[in-house]
Amino acid sequence: MFLFPQQIIERKRDGKALSRDQITAFVRGATDGSWADYQLSALLMAIYWRGMTPLETTWLTGATINSGVVADLSAVRLPKVDKHSTGGVGDKISLHLAPMVAVCGAAVPMISGRSLGHTGGTLDKLESIAGFNVNLPLAAFCAQVGRLGVALIGQTAELAPADKKLYALRDATATIECIPLICASIMGKKLAEGIDALVLDVKFGRGAFMPDKARARELAEALIEIGRAVHKPVRAMLTAMEQPLGRTVGNALEMAESIACLRGEGPADVMEVTFALGEQMLLLAGVAPTAAEARQKLAAGIASGAALAKFREVVVAQGGDARMVDDPSLLPRARLQVPVASETGGYVRSVDALLVGVAAMGLGASRSQAGDRIDPAVGVSHLVKIGEKVARGDTLCVIHANNEALLAEAEVFLEKAIVIGGTPGVAPKLIEEIITESSK
Ligand code: URA
Repeated sequence: MFLFPQQIIERKRDGKALSRDQITAFVRGATDGSWADYQLSALLMAIYWRGMTPLETTWLTGATINSGVVADLSAVRLPKVDKHSTGGVGDKISLHLAPMVAVCGAAVPMISGRSLGHTGGTLDKLESIAGFNVNLPLAAFCAQVGRLGVALIGQTAELAPADKKLYALRDATATIECIPLICASIMGKKLAEGIDALVLDVKFGRGAFMPDKARARELAEALIEIGRAVHKPVRAMLTAMEQPLGRTVGNALEMAESIACLRGEGPADVMEVTFALGEQMLLLAGVAPTAAEARQKLAAGIASGAALAKFREVVVAQGGDARMVDDPSLLPRARLQVPVASETGGYVRSVDALLVGVAAMGLGASRSQAGDRIDPAVGVSHLVKIGEKVARGDTLCVIHANNEALLAEAEVFLEKAIVIGGTPGVAPKLIEEIITESSK
């Protein structure tokens, strides 16, 4: 058996499948530092070009999970289910979906990520609430899931540490866009949460990490395959990310929109995806027998105020200022709030999610590089949606900025992003497909 790094790299370089031991040696080498970064990077590039079989991908996922600990949620009696999104622009769904599901009788142990590039991150949105602590130790996280049925934190050093190392190397070596590596990275972290089931929101389109629908489907199927191999039910929704979700992009702005969702005042597109994901979560958790009943339960949680109250409880438990939940106008506000007016009358033909995301990133709402500082107040609000009618002078969006030069740059991107024409544009179907364990 070849277990030296150069032998393992050579095998994959030559297009051969790796054994479980070889994959374990690679992941161990990433975790304990016994492989040099150039050896890890060389193997990542070989995997990028040569791919992995489903079995190799499952082993890589298992080794990633076993590089750290698995959250011990055995004391939590409720079924434990989570949702993961591959990321988009204006995707604030985790913030309100987690408490919505928790009040329906499933526990949601949610470990989320930060923004990178033009896409936002749940942790940055949560931190727009003053004092909100996303860095709970694992034991406190597990205890909160037991007590409240939901906790929202970032990855801890104990969970899937190999992924932290490998993801940073992939980011630096142009090996992110590789389905087996993405699968092991996402599923390695999610399965380390100690969940019973997982629902994935795999986005495609201009603002998505995977713009092409066929590739997004391939990724969704590969993720479900791992679930099947480890006997955990996993479902995936393919959703469009051509235009931003909702009418806001930026951390405090999206937090306010998410609170509006919990009050029953959320934008139609955000709620359509929220309910569809929530239905699948409740079905997989076994707390609703049909999608229609799941939707009823989710809607009842909003109508009764229970979901909003649960979110408030989470904010208090994690050290946040709950007054910002009661009155979102207390959330951070930018110094400059400038509308972009339509120069002509007509219909919205497109709102390019990528360009809106880049505009928000330029304002400081997300990071162009890991380590960049975030400004919670900045972003874009009042975004028009594809198909809407506008008159000359109408507001197409409002830019929230703390710097005049950055505001001017964002304006250029937003004027390009929002196209007005003589006929209404047609938004792509938001939910393209729900892929279940038995779809293939
Ligand atoms: N998100 C992850 O967590 N990992 C990837 O590889 C890609 C997206």
